Amino acid sequence: MDIKQQLTHLFESKWGAKPEHFYQAPGRVNLIGEHTDYNDGFVLPCAINHQTMIAATPRDDQKLVVTTANFDGQITEFDLELPIQSSTEASWSNYIRGVATVLLERSKPLRGANIAIIGNVPQGAGLSSSACLEVCTGLALSRLAGVDVSLKDLALIGQEAENNYVGVNCGIMDQMVSACGEDGHAMLLDCRSLETRSVKIPEGAAIVIINSNKKRGLVDSEYNTRRQQCEAVARHFDVKALRDVSVEMLEAHRDELDEVSYCRARHVITENSRTLEAAKVMPEGNLKRMGVLMAESHASMRDDFEITVPAIDTIVELVKGVIGEDGGVRMTGGGFGGCVVSLTPADKVTAIKQAIASDYEKQTGLKADIYVCKASQGASSIT
Ligand code: GLA
Repeated sequence: MDIKQQLTHLFESKWGAKPEHFYQAPGRVNLIGEHTDYNDGFVLPCAINHQTMIAATPRDDQKLVVTTANFDGQITEFDLELPIQSSTEASWSNYIRGVATVLLERSKPLRGANIAIIGNVPQGAGLSSSACLEVCTGLALSRLAGVDVSLKDLALIGQEAENNYVGVNCGIMDQMVSACGEDGHAMLLDCRSLETRSVKIPEGAAIVIINSNKKRGLVDSEYNTRRQQCEAVARHFDVKALRDVSVEMLEAHRDELDEVSYCRARHVITENSRTLEAAKVMPEGNLKRMGVLMAESHASMRDDFEITVPAIDTIVELVKGVIGEDGGVRMTGGGFGGCVVSLTPADKVTAIKQAIASDYEKQTGLKADIYVCKASQGASSIT
């Protein structure tokens, strides 16, 4: 059974009829540009062929009755005409409650519905299982009510829900690429203007994601701390965001900053230029240069931004040992565990799998999962 069949089955088991509508939004992997989005910088993610899917049928009242396959078919409900409270027993539903709240705050009329949700984006792995749930929810709730909200606005609504109702101060990357990703392409996103450019994944290159399965600890607090550190340096330079600080400016004022602040800023500033260069060389098929940029990005996250962990560094070294100069490998996502991404010639995939299988568990005591992914289209209604 594929996930659409599983979802239909779940829906029918709860409401005794087939759902009328289906929607999907994908998870994402970021090829380069980490912790740059909330600094008004540049990112280069792509949507992947793992996604959240929603099945829905409108109701005659104003209730949203929601169930999910990912938490044993637990059901929760709330009324769109009453103040929407967050739930402690069904905390997964706070994403839905948050998105509904933001849509209503933006004066978008909503209508009641029975909703079933399923997802095959690994949770807590840094592949944006939350962002795609937010985007998919926004798409479903707006389309069910016949309200036209653009994909870009659905991304902003998802981010606002996450910031204000879930409490993670995330940037806009994950929701934007989940909403607006393009098949076969990565997305160069200017996180200040929200302008996007499609960047082709070269023929013959594979996107390999390796999940360290290292449980991510302290992610949210460390994430928010990094964000505050970056904002403090921007204030020191009296600019809106680190996007506006060049390496030259940073070096000229190095003495005025403590070492940690200097290193945090250096990561963001150099990562922005690596990301812009990657968007140029990747579609030319220059995997060698991508390899250098991704290696520099990883070192910068490890040494300057201090968001990698030993299990992740181990995977990066194992993969690098296989691909050499032909392609790149780096940690992807917020950090402190999660996944590594490699952009590599497709004929190296088997050797990467073998290297991980024979050495990762030996060195770390952990087992990795590997997904060979396809850059995919963003959120859509499914007919
Ligand atoms: C998380 C956040 C994103 C981004 C990345 C780091 O995925 O949700 O907004 O900041 O971390 O690049």
